[in-house]
Amino acid sequence: MTIDATNVKPTVAPTVPGNSDASRDVASYLHPYTNLVTHEKTGPHIITGGHGIYVTDDYGRDLIEGMAGLWCTSLGFDEKRLVDAATKQLNTLPYYHTFASKSTNPAIDLAEKLLEIVPVPMSKVFFANSGSEATDSAVKMVWYYHNAIGQPEKKKIISRKKGYHGVTVASASMTGLPGNHKLFDLPIDRILHTETPHYWREAQPGEEEEDFATRLAEQLEDLIQAEGPETVGAFIAEPIMGAGGVLVPPRTYFEKIQEVLKRYDVLFIADEVICGFGRTGRMFATETFRLKPDMITIAKQLSSAYQPISALFINDKIYQAVKKGSDEIGVFGHGFTYSGHPVAAAVALETIKVYEDDGIIDHVRDVMSPFQKRLKALNKFEHIGETRGRGLIGAFELVADKCAKTPFEPYGAAGKAVAAICLEHGVILRALGDTVAFCPPLIITEEQIHDMFDKVEAALTEWHSSL
Ligand SMILES: Cc1ncc(COP(=O)(O)O)c(C=O)c1O
Repeated sequence: MTIDATNVKPTVAPTVPGNSDASRDVASYLHPYTNLVTHEKTGPHIITGGHGIYVTDDYGRDLIEGMAGLWCTSLGFDEKRLVDAATKQLNTLPYYHTFASKSTNPAIDLAEKLLEIVPVPMSKVFFANSGSEATDSAVKMVWYYHNAIGQPEKKKIISRKKGYHGVTVASASMTGLPGNHKLFDLPIDRILHTETPHYWREAQPGEEEEDFATRLAEQLEDLIQAEGPETVGAFIAEPIMGAGGVLVPPRTYFEKIQEVLKRYDVLFIADEVICGFGRTGRMFATETFRLKPDMITIAKQLSSAYQPISALFINDKIYQAVKKGSDEIGVFGHGFTYSGHPVAAAVALETIKVYEDDGIIDHVRDVMSPFQKRLKALNKFEHIGETRGRGLIGAFELVADKCAKTPFEPYGAAGKAVAAICLEHGVILRALGDTVAFCPPLIITEEQIHDMFDKVEAALTEWHSSL
């Protein structure tokens, strides 16, 4: 079945000439993750304010932010405690760096707090500003570590097809999506991709979920053996794959993958940039999926996105080697001007306190069951092939033929069309190809969950009848 992509209504009226905000945007701003030709025709969708789980656009519409922005505004759009924490820190010390042993109290307090709540033994926390910088720092740490311990060959990093780890040169290379590689001359060498753990789409006919997990672990082992275990330094994985389509690992997957990593002395990096801080019903998905990573990356819900900040946890084995290496060459030559920025650190610390004081993780556990039930109920629609999710993250995948799992053509047009109709019904969702994702603020109430799904069902009914 073919979708007419030209039928998709633009988000807003086409750009009007003159001095409107829309035309000024088109004239001056290069938008990330945007089709630049389409953007010149449709113009931007301008968001002007926010409260609770809602954002307001320049048409004055209140929209449910069903994606918490980009999987990040966990506490919604008007958490006063975070505004106050930022204001207080701006009035005290708006900036100082942490190079060459300088420090600030917010950076110290946050590092200490993170080590207190992380569920596996970790030794130190390194701060950066974005998820990409955190995963990029993890790559450099893998290389530095193996040089420092006298294994300079052990540098290759394995990630997964459809994995998402960011857009800087090394992190985009680990990202397993063609749109992040084409025309950019990526991936760089030493980055490899293994199979996607998507049971519904990738399993062989008749293959049980646990057998599928076994096969993927065997494929990883085959890849390590083919490359030479002495050349493979690390494996990186999101506990639940986000941007690749909200893919929840099949039962026993991580158990089996971790056995392989252990067998070949391959470091494990858990990329918790989306899953960290309550998304799966626990503070870290490392607990949800019983992971034993050597490094963990976090960002997004670390500060509820009120300030850009990310972090990389490293365990003591890595820290001791990095410490020795830095002494031999005189410096640990890595860090950003804004590493441990005091305002961002103060906001992140306050965010974690709000999670604790307001029982946000317990709240997620209460509301995730109605959320998952309503998500699953979308299977009744003729063109929804699969619904999937965990905690307060989920998605549905649109297909032309449910039984044969045949995709629509062209791929991505159906997802775009459905997300656009959902917007007209008052809900912002994100189309990832023909998968439409939900990742609402963690503060969403049960009543708001029902309201969001009622609107999405109305949108899906309208879209089905238009086919
Ligand atoms: C799992 C994961 N890692 C890394 C990143 C990159 O984060 P950023 O966009 O802050 O660079 C993302 C962004 O969505 C992500 O989902």
